Amino acid sequence: MALLVKKIKGTEDILPRQSYKWQFIEKVMSEEAKVYGFKEIRTPVFEQTELFRRGVGEGTDVVQKEMYTFETKGGESLTLRPEGTAGAARALLEHNLINDGLPIKAYYFTTCYRYEKPQAGRQREFHQFGLEVYGAQDALSDAELICAANSIFERLQLRNIRLEINSIGCPECRKNYHKALKEYFEGHKDTLCGTCLTRLEKNPMRILDCKSPVCKEIAANAPKILDFLCDDCKEHFDKVQKYLTAAEIPFTVNPSIVRGLDYYTNTVFEFIADGIGAQSTVCGGGRYNGLIEELGGNPLPSLGFAIGLERLLMVMDAQNIEISSPESPALYIAALGDAAQVKAFSMAKTLREAGLEAQFDIVGRGLKAQMKYADKIGSKFTLVLGDNEIAENKAKLKNMSTSEQKDISLGEDFMQEFFAALIESETNPALSL
Ligand code: HAM
Repeated sequence: MALLVKKIKGTEDILPRQSYKWQFIEKVMSEEAKVYGFKEIRTPVFEQTELFRRGVGEGTDVVQKEMYTFETKGGESLTLRPEGTAGAARALLEHNLINDGLPIKAYYFTTCYRYEKPQAGRQREFHQFGLEVYGAQDALSDAELICAANSIFERLQLRNIRLEINSIGCPECRKNYHKALKEYFEGHKDTLCGTCLTRLEKNPMRILDCKSPVCKEIAANAPKILDFLCDDCKEHFDKVQKYLTAAEIPFTVNPSIVRGLDYYTNTVFEFIADGIGAQSTVCGGGRYNGLIEELGGNPLPSLGFAIGLERLLMVMDAQNIEISSPESPALYIAALGDAAQVKAFSMAKTLREAGLEAQFDIVGRGLKAQMKYADKIGSKFTLVLGDNEIAENKAKLKNMSTSEQKDISLGEDFMQEFFAALIESETNPALSL
């Protein structure tokens, strides 16, 4: 087959045979969000480019190199969201959600768009689940947020996922830190990569995030932000650690975590999993006390995180965490002849009203082909209906995995008898919806 149109590089289709895995993790995540008090927010896929310039930050890779930005016919510059935090913050301000009472807790599932070089765990369109908390300054809120991410990973039975935290302080601590970093990196100007030379001028902390081995080696001995925290920021970070310890959530302090987006202040964190290659950060987040003000609101201490769903599923696959495949149809009704087809239709309707998946022939196949199809879709039971069965008001119910057959009434007792047969055949140990 010569395919005329193909999917765009860096995008993936989620097919009917895979979507149950997505539905499963989405269900776990929204249930966890709910017990932590979060309500869903949905924002548009595109926003004014200015939102991300201001929110995510002019100097970030995301804004400088990775945004899908286009001009509308009306001459307006729009951008496909590269992440979910800026859009949610815009909506908070635009709808004055602050009046609903603080703190506000919102969760979202979004597609995100970044023009990055695709590789395992890195796509141009990808999915995030995120939590955002607005109007909470206490270190308890940092710990609670991290605890929510941890609960999700625990419920999904993830192993070997480590939590790394850091504090990048407030703008005041960072002023001194930038100065020290600049001085340090100035001494290595000859060896830094071209991108880092620009970073040196604009935001030397970005150099700590560079993937080039040479820059990495230089960065290893750079001054550490934790030595530059002011008393308040230090106290905040100490408390976050104290609360995490009290909640028995293991973590390590990694002073090289700076995160790639400009809005962060104070606590930043990542959950990192082994076994899925270089793109191993499954979840990233932190506090962003300056973002709401940056977008025109009054200062509002806020924080959040996002989990990359593709990466999460990769980890689950790598760790052989089984998610139960979708329930197969309870019953396939193979019908021959007009009267049988009408009966099959009405029986399927009754079964569906009771919440069971039932199927019958809608494409005009012969009996043999119908049975083959029932087998292919994995139907648990089949029922063959012809003129005789209709006349006698009973038919043979076949258990497709044991090939056992037994008579079943097509009258009033049908549902009761069918439920009994179904319950008798149930066994399923995997994680399921
Ligand atoms: P981020 O670290 O840019 O943070 O992305 C969060 C997660 O999204 C990453 O840890 C990763 O799992 C996934 N991710 C990022 N880029 C890609 C990609 N190209 N392909 C596949 N997965 C990817 C943020 O986006 C922040 N908005 C998180 C946040 C929310 N901070 C506060 N609130």
